[in-house]
Amino acid sequence: MKIVAINGSPRKEGNTAALLKAVVEEHKDTDLVYFDLADLKVKDCTSCWYCKTHESCSIKDDMTKIYKAIKECDTLVLASPIYMGAETGIMKSMVDRMYALLSFSDSPGKFEPRLAPGKKAMALFTCGAPNGDTAMGYQKDRYYSIFAMGGFSKAKVYIVGGVNPNANIMEKVEVPKIIEESRRFLRH
Ligand SMILES: Cc1cc2nc3c(=O)[nH]c(=O)nc-3n(C[C@H](O)[C@H](O)[C@H](O)COP(=O)(O)O)c2cc1C
Repeated sequence: MKIVAINGSPRKEGNTAALLKAVVEEHKDTDLVYFDLADLKVKDCTSCWYCKTHESCSIKDDMTKIYKAIKECDTLVLASPIYMGAETGIMKSMVDRMYALLSFSDSPGKFEPRLAPGKKAMALFTCGAPNGDTAMGYQKDRYYSIFAMGGFSKAKVYIVGGVNPNANIMEKVEVPKIIEESRRFLRH
């Protein structure tokens, strides 16, 4: 069971990281690869289309090790705070670069995943708005689509709202249930 956890929050010990770590904690001594994007250099996609004629990205930066980890994992777990209604810029850059994990299909505008089938994916978002979980349904829809396009066979997306910088996410009533469901998702 190989898990890749990627924290897209610039606060490496913030609430998003706390939630992510709680979800993957039981795997930390086994097959967990954990990335803080804040420590990495992941450039923006340059739209060079190299990845559509080659099975890799033309940009050689820290994304190279993320590609390797994603290819080798059973489950990918992304986590990000919501900034201005979406994931952080660094997480968006990383997800854009996952375009290199797709090849063109015979149907125009459709893609074939290059990842091996059977992988699972999860996204965890935190935000300040108390109703973030419902108000940002579009963000859940986006990530379910991104994971489906990437060839992930099962996916889960959660948004925890009402998380301000001085809040402790672990004190939020819905969090124990999210952690338990997420851990079960990772195990099965
Ligand atoms: C630049 C910035 C933009 C934000 N935009 C939103 C937003 O659009 N909606 C929202 O509900 N919360 C927003 N927030 C609040 C964060 O999403 C929230 O506090 C999050 O839990 C922070 O996670 P962290 O502890 O990992 O930093 C924003 C925070 C920052 C710093």
